[in-house]
Amino acid sequence: MIMAYVVRTKSKISLAAASAGRTVLSKKRQELRSLPSWSTLSSSVNSDAAKESSKTISDLPGPISLPIIGAAWTFFAGAKGQPLGKRILAVQEEHANKYGRIFRSRLPGVTIVSLSDPADVAKVLRSESKYPERLQFPVLDYYREKRQKIPGVFFLDGPEWYKHRSILSKRMLRPKEVADYASGFNQIITDFIHRLRTVREPSGSEKENEVCDLDKELFKWSFESVAEMLFDKRFGCLESEVNKEAQTFIKAVGDFLHSAIGVGFLPTWFYKIYETQQFKTFFSSFDTMYEYAELFIERRIHDLEEQQRNQSSNPSKPSERDKAGFFEFLLSSGKLTKDDLLASVIDVLFAGVDTTSNTMQWILYMMAKNPDKQDILRQEVLSVLGDTTLATPTTLTQMPYLKAWVRETLRLYPVLCIIARKPTEDITLNGYLIPRGTQIQFLTHVMGRDEKLFEDAEAFRPERWLRKKDAIPTDTAEAFSSIPFGFGTRMCIGRRIAELELHLLLARIVQQFEISYPPDAENVEPFVRGVTIPDRAVRAKFVDRQ
Ligand code: HEM
Repeated sequence: MIMAYVVRTKSKISLAAASAGRTVLSKKRQELRSLPSWSTLSSSVNSDAAKESSKTISDLPGPISLPIIGAAWTFFAGAKGQPLGKRILAVQEEHANKYGRIFRSRLPGVTIVSLSDPADVAKVLRSESKYPERLQFPVLDYYREKRQKIPGVFFLDGPEWYKHRSILSKRMLRPKEVADYASGFNQIITDFIHRLRTVREPSGSEKENEVCDLDKELFKWSFESVAEMLFDKRFGCLESEVNKEAQTFIKAVGDFLHSAIGVGFLPTWFYKIYETQQFKTFFSSFDTMYEYAELFIERRIHDLEEQQRNQSSNPSKPSERDKAGFFEFLLSSGKLTKDDLLASVIDVLFAGVDTTSNTMQWILYMMAKNPDKQDILRQEVLSVLGDTTLATPTTLTQMPYLKAWVRETLRLYPVLCIIARKPTEDITLNGYLIPRGTQIQFLTHVMGRDEKLFEDAEAFRPERWLRKKDAIPTDTAEAFSSIPFGFGTRMCIGRRIAELELHLLLARIVQQFEISYPPDAENVEPFVRGVTIPDRAVRAKFVDRQ
């Protein structure tokens, strides 16, 4: 019965469909409400799971598995020249439509269970252990093994992960601590806006007011923000002449991110026999990242020692800062070794740069494509800030539409099209016993565009997040239908920082520019390259507001 309602039908968007969508939505909610209560749900986790379920993972529907390649053929069959980055999303949708809200795919070396019903997602996430696990990335393990490096907060598991996480979260998740980054982020935004004006195409030219390499410019903004937070130092990425060290470092971070996911498609044993060009780039860029991160860390430690010496030789001299920087804080915890620090700094760079910069591209794309909504956004921002006042964490609380803008963008364009978990206990999902250690993935992209979960799902409507007080959904279906930052103790540790960066930049862009889309520009679609990026350049025009 339950399976029946999740078999998807793709409906086209029209005014008529909008009202029909409402009916479907409320029906869906009723059905979700009639699902077992939480107490019943949690009783089916762990040892009781086996008693309750008669069906096993082998009984799950899913694509046919061929010898050696398993279900990997589905990415290529029927692709009709579609690149893999798009095919990944198309296959997710096709499979969810065909097999329903829970299905399994056997890929070489791993069986994956995919979920796209928020109730199942909630059940997995709410029954997590103290040390939730995500997924393995064997090629990174291979690198670390060869280079004798240890993983950081993103890739660690178990008590070691917890050690890193509990220290980092004090500076990355506590609202008061995060608010302290606002003034530094605002200075970076000032430089970024100046740079946009410098690099945009001149008046009278064919692409007047367009910023041609918007992705690269946003990458610099995002890198500068995260690196400043980590190292308490400006890297100068937004200057016309970027210093050589910073340039080498950010190029390495970019190359690493671009190659990391691609190399993950082949098993590690393959690289032991033959190193592809992409694999070589991955290794060399990772080497450079470590080399430079180590250099910056050494320098920072040296500066701190110097400051300490000056302080003890002249105690009457006030210290330069009244609050320890991010780095001093991590060091002073006494729990992280220098190698631990290096590992987590690398992981934060891995997770914190491409994510925010790509989200900002989608945010701008939504501005360009929705001029009427952009007007509403502008009215809100100007009513709180006027033309020139810089936004702060306090004034941002008065801008619910701006926050909803980011949320709605992440619903349609979640940075990660899947979020992974490996339950540490057996769990029953929809009558199937899923053994502990199974690779489970939540289809965030599929859920975000599901007509049964979101009325008029393909339409950009920030208003949908304004309905509830403080926009915090309480209903399971709503709370777990769009979880762009994940959930629970393993959720994105940079969430508050990312939101602050995005909200501050969005407010400033709204104050400064009208964003429009050139009439001859093509529509942009999502493309998976690790994170979900635009499949072509976002051609936004940055026109000065009069
Ligand atoms: C729009 C921006 C961002 C999005 C959508 C995003 C999304 C995510 C998601 C979905 C996860 C996995 C969560 C889970 O498994 O439940 C994650 C993990 C993580 N993110 Fe973000 N992220 C963003 C920005 C950032 C930033 C700016 C930083 C750092 C400054 C960061 C650092 C991390 C780290 C370190 C983890 C691993 C946490 C752990 O395993 O304990 N992220 N992020």
